[in-house]
Amino acid sequence: MPGLRVSVPDLDRRRFLALAGVGTVAALTGAELLQAASAAAATAELDPTPFTLGVASGDPAHDSVVLWTRVVPDPFAEDGGMPDRAVRVRWEIARDEDFRTGRQSGTVSTDATSAHTVHITATRLRPDSWHWYRFSVELDGQQVSSRTGRTRTLPAPGRRVDELTFAFASCQAWQGGPYPAWRDLAEQDLDFVVHLGDYIYETSLGSLAEFRRLHALYKTSPDLREAHARFPFITTWDDHEVQNNYADDVPGAAGDGRPFLERRAGAYQAYFEHLPLRAASEPEGPDMLLYRRFDVGRLASFSVLDTRQYRTDQPCGDGRRVPCAEVDDPAATLTGPEQERWLLDGLSASRATWNVIAQQTIMAQFDYDLGPDKVVNLDQWDGYPAARSRILGHLAQQDVRNPVVLSGDWHTSWVNDLLADFDDPTSAVLATEFVGTSISSGAGWDADVRLGLPANPHVRFYNGSYRGYVMCQVTPERWRSTYRIVLDARDADSPAYTIGVFDVAEGTPGAVRVDTGDGLTGRVTDDAGAPVGQAEVAVTRDGSQVATTFTDPDGRWVLFVPEGEVTVQVRAVGYEGVSRTLTVDGSGSATVDATLTRLTGARAGTEVLVPGPRREAGVRDVVLENGELALAVSVVTQDGQMTPTTIGKPLDLAARGGQDQIDWINLPYAQVAQPTGTEAWQSRTVRSSEVQVGGSGDVAEVSTVGVVVGVEQVSVRTTYRLAAGSKDVEVTSTFRNAGTSPVTLWVGDAIDYDGAGQRSGVPGHGTITTPYGSPAVYVPTAPWMGMTGTDRQVYGLVYEQGGFDCYGNSNWIMSRRQVTIAAGGSFELVRRLTVRTALGADPWQVLAEA
Ligand SMILES: [Fe+2]
Repeated sequence: MPGLRVSVPDLDRRRFLALAGVGTVAALTGAELLQAASAAAATAELDPTPFTLGVASGDPAHDSVVLWTRVVPDPFAEDGGMPDRAVRVRWEIARDEDFRTGRQSGTVSTDATSAHTVHITATRLRPDSWHWYRFSVELDGQQVSSRTGRTRTLPAPGRRVDELTFAFASCQAWQGGPYPAWRDLAEQDLDFVVHLGDYIYETSLGSLAEFRRLHALYKTSPDLREAHARFPFITTWDDHEVQNNYADDVPGAAGDGRPFLERRAGAYQAYFEHLPLRAASEPEGPDMLLYRRFDVGRLASFSVLDTRQYRTDQPCGDGRRVPCAEVDDPAATLTGPEQERWLLDGLSASRATWNVIAQQTIMAQFDYDLGPDKVVNLDQWDGYPAARSRILGHLAQQDVRNPVVLSGDWHTSWVNDLLADFDDPTSAVLATEFVGTSISSGAGWDADVRLGLPANPHVRFYNGSYRGYVMCQVTPERWRSTYRIVLDARDADSPAYTIGVFDVAEGTPGAVRVDTGDGLTGRVTDDAGAPVGQAEVAVTRDGSQVATTFTDPDGRWVLFVPEGEVTVQVRAVGYEGVSRTLTVDGSGSATVDATLTRLTGARAGTEVLVPGPRREAGVRDVVLENGELALAVSVVTQDGQMTPTTIGKPLDLAARGGQDQIDWINLPYAQVAQPTGTEAWQSRTVRSSEVQVGGSGDVAEVSTVGVVVGVEQVSVRTTYRLAAGSKDVEVTSTFRNAGTSPVTLWVGDAIDYDGAGQRSGVPGHGTITTPYGSPAVYVPTAPWMGMTGTDRQVYGLVYEQGGFDCYGNSNWIMSRRQVTIAAGGSFELVRRLTVRTALGADPWQVLAEA
């Protein structure tokens, strides 16, 4: 079994990352995986053959630990490059690197039924001690050894422990980049590592061979193998080890057509095969026991949960939405009744100082909606509030000492107070939750979380910009969580930093920030000293942007940049922007506070950007702004869905205190046929080529001239006018018929809001519930239409005249009116484009009153 190579790659990793969409967690197709695997195989630094995937240890007890390896000369071949027969593997463990002290050894047989993996439970070990271990096989008549791994036993039961240091991590999508976070973790001084799931991300294929190939692919990372070789791991899974958002036997996606439990069985088997788990976890078909408990002397007890295998299906159709009645079903469970009983009994019986629940999804409530509606993630504990209440209630009733919940899944860093009643911010803090960011998986929902923070004061810390892990130092008096992040998860050599340090004092639930950590930090306030949230902070170097973020509700921000001279620009809707140049030293730390003054007057110009992660406009497009709003009109930027008719149309729009949430507003369109169908909103029928900027100090003006495509005798001039202090932009479109006969056209505008919770409103119909793909006609009872989302910015068009209908659904809305323009005559479409924050029960009220 000499070292083999798989097929020559036709796709390098960089190109593959581009194809797969960096930072997304979309399932790869089997074909993409094959390409990735072959690329990885050609370039990977593997361990010496045949132990190419390294060694690992795990599930430590005070007197035993599991040792793991796999005999696999060719990790991507279906047979691993192994003959179809048993091989004997020798193992050794000792208390020193040279295998002289306390040495034990043995041999074990392994074969293709377990992919030639090896699980040894080394017993009769000394508690609380480092041990070293290695494997060897006979190859071509010679004994060939694996690398030497290091592992550690736990302290003896009931013993006082002065300090425990461990790290927890999760979510390592291979397509998110190499693993600098694992490299940084491997350099720490840890007793063990807890992995909270998404160790792999599935593909559409559900075969055992596919899951084995995935586990092999992930272990091509030298940094992940190094972490395994240096510390014992305690692992549990989340959903992607099998399939996104699956629940027990209910699939979360279509897969490849095989019965779901067959996929689950293959996934579980490959998971067991590739991780250092005890024999008790060995799967039987689609079932595998993974919840278990680890006691670290009398300092800490870790209950490690499995919240996927026994959960009831996500209620109300899953996703982030307003929960339906089903969410309150008391029988809904994430753990299943048996595991829940085991958890509660274990917590009651524990005599540990710190009682840790290590599990997958966020336990704290998080309401994404800033208004009275509640929009929650139904895949997390928010979809199972009765089960959450039972556990939190039990902690209170049984006086469980110092409960700490560790979570993953959501690829972002959080510190949460777990409250007796999340809807009452003054209610008792029952436990502390630390949520770790991902090792590499992206967080496309970061902006939605950030915008929702003001509605969730029990979230004490949040950052979604960076990948990393959390390190915990635990003593009898204090729990300390240090959030480590990497500058760039796509760079194997990325530097790593601390983004915050949080302490929980023994006896007092709730974490307190004790150190802001490294980084370029600052606070943005207005000239009255009030915090400015949702301000954009951009760092540029030599004219190009190197980092960007947004302020939190308290006006605070943090960014990490390599050392050197940088310019920090701060901008917020309704304020004058500020910028400052400074030199960042090797520590990467500096403070840049900013005071913003309200914009007076109104102006229009280029080189200005509307803040927001959904911004499309660039510095060459024009922005109209005053102290209330900012509107970007395209001068050069084309939007894919509007090409080539984007010029002269709004790309970005936000109110003071908000961020741009629209894709674009098609203002106006004009066509002979009535727009209809799923793509009606993209009516690319008014094409302009030029934008003029004008106006004086109190009124800013932008205008654009174009033609109706296919009806070129009709010209269209659109003028945007913004007055100082106004919350509306007056927009007039003049359609002029230069032809010799009358022309009949459908004219109007379409709004495409892209933020979370997107919904449309029409007077007389309130919020439209028609689903995407089947737009419907609504006759408005007043001359306006609008869109909004969880951030509660309401985007509206208020027309001077009625006589139109609204056509659309929750994802987009358009106005339609038919006009006949006489030869040599003209028609004027006059409306106000507005954006306002509306926190009340009826978001559309602000448009009715506008
Ligand atoms: Fe994940």
